[in-house]
Amino acid sequence: MTLLDGKKTSEAIQNEIAAEVAAIKARGGKVPHLAAILVGNDGGSVTYVNNKVLACERVGFGSSLFHYDESISEEELLLKIKELNLDADIDGFIVQLPLPKHIDPEKVLEAVDPQKDVDGFHPINVGRMVAGLPAYLPATPAGILQLLERYQIETSGKHCVVLGRSNIVGSPMSILMAKNTYPGNCTVTLCHSRTKDLPYYTRQADIIIAAIGKPEFVTADMVKEGAVVIDVGTTRVPDASRKSGFRLRGDVKFEEVAPKCSYITPVPGGVGPLTIAMLLKNTLSAAKKEVYA
Ligand code: GUN
Repeated sequence: MTLLDGKKTSEAIQNEIAAEVAAIKARGGKVPHLAAILVGNDGGSVTYVNNKVLACERVGFGSSLFHYDESISEEELLLKIKELNLDADIDGFIVQLPLPKHIDPEKVLEAVDPQKDVDGFHPINVGRMVAGLPAYLPATPAGILQLLERYQIETSGKHCVVLGRSNIVGSPMSILMAKNTYPGNCTVTLCHSRTKDLPYYTRQADIIIAAIGKPEFVTADMVKEGAVVIDVGTTRVPDASRKSGFRLRGDVKFEEVAPKCSYITPVPGGVGPLTIAMLLKNTLSAAKKEVYA
């Protein structure tokens, strides 16, 4: 069994980005700038956004964080997005999800200029991804592709079972794994909360990508010997022995599943760090105007 080291892979990608930024600076070019909008104080979201800002500093990007109270109106938020769309110094920006209930996330995501949508959540980028046109790919699925690629894992002709159909991970992942590319060329099954006899599918899987947010959902009896298992879950469960009061739990029961796998991602230190690296990669692409040339 080989552990897929997301932390090490993310550091390698960030070093590559930092080298490019240094070269851009040396020739007097425009330094990439990522902005993030955060609404409210959800613990997970605050941590993720802070980590994104810190990562920007590490690779030499400019960064801005706009943190609003949960009471911000939808109108006010849409105005801020319009402002960022027009700000020539900001190459890309994200609106951290989830948003409070009184704000319609679809309206918000559609307000972002697709050319600055480094999360790849705007319907134009989603459509371009499905059509195989240049697009910003959502960071978590793109990070998983990087892991498969950098560990040179064979995917062609394999059966990939994706658990979860979210717009952020499951749906785009299922589309990307079926594409005629590497990594890709899989036969893909997308399982979700209404799937009947889900273990029937996972037991046939050469590659399992679990993104349902249910701690330890995938158990050893659901996994074929030699499978590749990618765990996207990061549920916070109470843990009094930790200073933070919680620890992260994946969607996979690691201790019993790992011995059966050819490759598996740990939680934490698997997919999570890749998500940040790919957001930075998208921002660099935005600054270089690579996607919408
Ligand atoms: N919430 C969970 N994952 C993500 C992500 O990749 N981007 C944003 N903006 N919000 C998220």
